[in-house]
Amino acid sequence: MAALLLRDLAQVATPAADAGQVARGRDLRAVDVIEDAYILCRGETIAAVGRMRDLEPLDGDIEEIDCAGRSAVPGLVDCHTHPAFGGDRVGEFSLRAGGASYEELHAAGGGILSTVAATRALSPDALLERVTEHAEWMLAHGTTTWEGKSGYGLDHDTELASLKAVRVAGGSPTWLGAHSVPPEHPDADAYLDFVLADVLPEAAQLADAADVFLERGAFDAPRARRYLEACAAAGLALRLHGDQFTESGAVPLAIDLGARSIDHLEATGAIGVQELGYSDVIAVLLPASALFLDRPMPPGRALADAGAAIALATDFNPGSSFTTSLPLIASLACTQLHLAPEEALVAMTLNAAHVVGAADRGRLAPGMRADVTLLDAPDWRYLAYHLAGDLVSTVVRAGATAYRR
Ligand code: NIG
Ligand code: FE
Repeated sequence: MAALLLRDLAQVATPAADAGQVARGRDLRAVDVIEDAYILCRGETIAAVGRMRDLEPLDGDIEEIDCAGRSAVPGLVDCHTHPAFGGDRVGEFSLRAGGASYEELHAAGGGILSTVAATRALSPDALLERVTEHAEWMLAHGTTTWEGKSGYGLDHDTELASLKAVRVAGGSPTWLGAHSVPPEHPDADAYLDFVLADVLPEAAQLADAADVFLERGAFDAPRARRYLEACAAAGLALRLHGDQFTESGAVPLAIDLGARSIDHLEATGAIGVQELGYSDVIAVLLPASALFLDRPMPPGRALADAGAAIALATDFNPGSSFTTSLPLIASLACTQLHLAPEEALVAMTLNAAHVVGAADRGRLAPGMRADVTLLDAPDWRYLAYHLAGDLVSTVVRAGATAYRR
């Protein structure tokens, strides 16, 4: 079995809590830090983590990486991305810079629907090429596990091609069949009749989860319930885009349906925060999307204090968050959401892995998958501290070097 030794690390930082559960409350800020450390990987798995001075002599064929001056964190987990799209929205970005609002552009047929047109124009191979390129961007920012949504096809062939492309490019596919109502359908009900009858049976075979955009101008709570109940009956885990612009009943719906996550929450008030604090639904915070759209930040500190299970993600997409950098998200989590670096790390490793349904990731401990992100930094907290820093130097995925700067 191939063995890889990462030696002489300045620090190894890992969530301390048991990987079997989502971390919340005190566990959310529990990070173990080992100075002057090593990580030994055998095959695809971590065999040992410890101090250099305790490293026993190893025999056999072992590849070694000298990590002097560098720190290790678990391979980062991006649990919310939209990588399957054609074209870009740079023109719209310029209009927004000049004062137009995201919702106005959406209502005027721009926004999501303009990306739908550009995505439908791609062949399945061209779409796979785009998703593969986006996955490479993520890897270069230290991401070793990612979720990728469809939702820019909204027809039978493009939705299924999107899900396949995400799987082939190495991601966990989520069917965002209810992202927007495409122009060929008279209304949301007619569109749902179509997707649930004609797309869901095959989407359920390709995807791990289903997602809906519950928002004014997209799908309201009764329609979101209809879509999600049908997806649950087909065996998919449930997720929601909720409370991005308005509080429209997404939190009670997510709790009632036992959803795995509710994502965005920029508009969530005190009652929603308390409800999530008592529930098992993971609150996925997307501060880059709030930043990119110049919207209020989600109540990250209040959620953490209420005991909610929180995760952090990029929301990578062409319209509202054109970034694949989880280190940038860590900075925003600390400076804008007022989370501690420890909470940010746990939220984008261990907890994000639970959102994706990958409980073997997100911790540097024996038996976990050997996913390690090496930072060019003497202290792991540079992950958040070095704003937009170029600090990811090497990424190990499943025990093999997948990226080197
Ligand atoms: O998560 N809110 C809806 N969906 C995406 C944005 C999609 C787009 O603008 O293309 C989001 O922000
Ligand atoms: Fe999103």
